[in-house]
Amino acid sequence: MKYFIKTFGCQMNAHDSQIAAGILKGMGCIPAETMQDADLILFNTCCIRELAEKKAYASIGAAQALKRNDRSKIIGVFGCMTQQEKALDTIKKRFPLVDFAFGTNNLYNLQRYIENAGTGSKQYSASEGDASADFLLPPRYGKKPLAFTNIMQGCNNFCTYCIVPYVRGREISRAASLIVNEATELAENGYKEVTLLGQNVNSYNDNGITFPDLLHKVNDTGIERIRFMTSHPKDLSNALIKAMAKLSHVCKQIHLPVQSGSNAILRAMNRRYTREHYLNLIKKLREAMPEIGVTTDIIVGFPGETKKDYNDTLELVSQVRFDAAYTFAFSPREGTPAAKLHDRVHPEVKSERLRKLIDIQKKITIEIHSAMVGKVQKVLVEGISKRSEQHVTGRTDRGRTVNFSGTKNDIGKILDIKITRANINTLFGEKTGGNV
Ligand code: 5AD
Ligand code: SF4
Repeated sequence: MKYFIKTFGCQMNAHDSQIAAGILKGMGCIPAETMQDADLILFNTCCIRELAEKKAYASIGAAQALKRNDRSKIIGVFGCMTQQEKALDTIKKRFPLVDFAFGTNNLYNLQRYIENAGTGSKQYSASEGDASADFLLPPRYGKKPLAFTNIMQGCNNFCTYCIVPYVRGREISRAASLIVNEATELAENGYKEVTLLGQNVNSYNDNGITFPDLLHKVNDTGIERIRFMTSHPKDLSNALIKAMAKLSHVCKQIHLPVQSGSNAILRAMNRRYTREHYLNLIKKLREAMPEIGVTTDIIVGFPGETKKDYNDTLELVSQVRFDAAYTFAFSPREGTPAAKLHDRVHPEVKSERLRKLIDIQKKITIEIHSAMVGKVQKVLVEGISKRSEQHVTGRTDRGRTVNFSGTKNDIGKILDIKITRANINTLFGEKTGGNV
């Protein structure tokens, strides 16, 4: 049987799809190049904003159209979107040719769903699922040299705009021993970088083993580079800053979503920190690691956001000078407290605020990139560049993408690259001869 998995959403979903691919491989399935070629079509869905759901439905519609011509195909939908009963109802009504749909933390049952689909029975379940069982699934690593490892599931924070705690459930931490074994295995098998994934890695706790403790342990496994995401500003401890600064394999990069620069909006979002607290964290991180790369997430147009609140966000962006910011217009998610707020920002105002914020951040990113020209950076080569066969692409310790002339033999090496020019997305460079 040939399979095709279409993944929407974040790195955690991408990682879940890798695990799903591992299960399918174990069942003797092989990957198909396209959806058309596949006997089994799977959708791993996201519901963080309305647009993510719309895209998933459009894609499921395309798969259903294929199945109308070939009834032997199996279609399955899983992930965050189908963790909501409402989405399951939509699937039943609009996409009757979907064979099964389940939610999050339920990959350990994937084989059963597929086997039952073969008998023609429909299966829908938003309630089934056990994060601890999913944690025990055999890891399936991505394309060398990069790997991702789940260290936590769920979230307890209930930011008022966010659907994640409802679809991913309460926070649980994976056993440190499992994570350390996985990192050791990765290093032994030639992987060079591992990204530790969780909604809020700063609150990791395995029977007293904290996130900084975990970083120490993973640092000792011999894996060349360690990254992690996402950090919550309210839980970022001095111990973590100290560990990041001290541990040689931990990349000097942090994704630290600020969401807003206004204290009134931060309160309404239930973020449980202030603008001042956030700025102080940035100061401490940069004092400990002057070259640290900081990226963030920002939402504009949260209900009640005034011009002054928005200007506070712009001011914070100019002050912090993020390497990059992922910016979003507020999207009401049914079931969250913010969706019930009445003082919505007009869609046109929201778009205009988003556009202006993006412009300001673009200028900052360009300035940061331009300042790197002439400097030598250690780049882990990840693969052949998408734009040219003669070029390879990789990232600096700080997380910036660099393209330069190279071959597939460079993949997996950490090379000294002199930056020669820069644009908004990419740095361009040349080899200087040094490598690790
Ligand atoms: N509307 C807009 N953006 C959202 N995010 C989460 N929920 C919403 C929403 N309802 C953004 C936040 C988060 C990122 C992953 O997605 O900025 O950090
Ligand atoms: Fe959502 Fe907030 Fe949890 Fe992040 S910390 S997943 S934004 S509830």
